[in-house]
Amino acid sequence: MDNDRLLRELSEFLRIPSISTLPANDQDCRRAAEWVAAELRRLGCSDVQLLASETHPVVWGVGPEVPGAPTLVLYGHYDVQPPDPLDEWTTPPFEPTVRDGKLYARGSADDKGQVFCLLRAIEAAGHPRVNLRFLIEGEEEHGSRVLFELLKKEPHRVKADAVLVADMAYVAPGWPAVYSALRGLCYAEISVRTSKTDLHSGEYGGAAPNAHEELARLLGRLKGPDGKINIPGLYQAVKPPTRQELASWRRLPFKEKAFLEKQVQAKALTGLKKYSVLERLWALPTFEIHGIMGGFTGAGAKTVIPAQATAKVSLRLVPNQKMKTVEKQLRAAVKKLAPKYVDATVTFLHGADPAQMKLSHPVFKKLDQAFKEVVGRSPVPARAGGSIPIVPALASGGAPVVMTGIGLPDDRLHAPNEKLDLKQLWDGIKVFRRFYELLGE
Ligand code: BES
Ligand code: MN
Ligand code: MN
Repeated sequence: MDNDRLLRELSEFLRIPSISTLPANDQDCRRAAEWVAAELRRLGCSDVQLLASETHPVVWGVGPEVPGAPTLVLYGHYDVQPPDPLDEWTTPPFEPTVRDGKLYARGSADDKGQVFCLLRAIEAAGHPRVNLRFLIEGEEEHGSRVLFELLKKEPHRVKADAVLVADMAYVAPGWPAVYSALRGLCYAEISVRTSKTDLHSGEYGGAAPNAHEELARLLGRLKGPDGKINIPGLYQAVKPPTRQELASWRRLPFKEKAFLEKQVQAKALTGLKKYSVLERLWALPTFEIHGIMGGFTGAGAKTVIPAQATAKVSLRLVPNQKMKTVEKQLRAAVKKLAPKYVDATVTFLHGADPAQMKLSHPVFKKLDQAFKEVVGRSPVPARAGGSIPIVPALASGGAPVVMTGIGLPDDRLHAPNEKLDLKQLWDGIKVFRRFYELLGE
């Protein structure tokens, strides 16, 4: 295969700023969908459609019919996260650039580069003896609402022998992974109001409540300095990892020190100290504050007591927590922890249930073999700290969902200078090519 041509064509896809969370980029999302649709037509798909096209459409396609062969659904997403802060990018996010064997662009690893990998592997395999179906969506990065609706109405689209999701990473260079669980999410805003309007901090300071102070205290109560989340009932449904899982995680090439120094790049790791870092990342819920709004943040100084403040927060959820239950638990905790004189409200924004997958189905043996042949090592079982909201729905038709990927842990998803190592892409095309061939045997 001609790698220069592949790189040129992937770069075309990456140049489209398909940011699904910004209305200004709606047309770009459509262009990215059209780009995927054209690829599917080129691969000989019949029935290529842009479904639910009022918002960012889901690209659906049906590969050439192979009587008697198994059916495989390929899932991926063409939408990306906003690229800010722009001045931290060495080269602009939507001008794909190769440096030192790595392709830098927003979406290179999450997930356009991986979608490209899955598609070009089909071409590389010639005509694999597999009935391929495609579900490439454009709203993964803000909750997959469109695809949820679609699958609720048309569950036959995930009737298959297997579903392949390539939107993750190796656990370390040379160590491919297959994922048995993803965390879920509960994203919300917590608002407090302490008075009708802002107040002069000299006239009233010392006697009037302050919205920012109350919000800060409330947030500080929701998660203590030891990392424990003080939401009653939150940990009840948490299913501890099995002894087998814990043992296999200890054998992974994961070093806490390197994780701190190379990836987190902070002075210390935080969280529940009695659990290993991998347990904290993969098997425990989190509570994060994403931003705090309100009050005076302009240039200079203004002596005012703010009446209102809002925090954007989210919890990551693990098996067997339920997003709806956690939403209720958060509401109850905020009510309980806020003083009587503070109006505290919780507005739910979006979320996802955690996902779990048994890795015992025979299809996983084929993935093992494909990776083993191409990169010399079978994927190790791992869990993901991140979320892919639609995974439980992809599994609802009974097909095993094979969750894997070609990224590396330092790809900087959602952050400046996101990249994809080209070696990972070239290997990935060979791996999935082999996987399709093995499925057809
Ligand atoms: N590909 C990621 C999820 C991911 C990241 C899985 C790292 C495994 C390892 C996905 O595109 C993503 O970012 N999902 C969002 C979902 C959310 C916006 C509902 C996430 O996890 O924040
Ligand atoms: Mn992704
Ligand atoms: Mn993402």
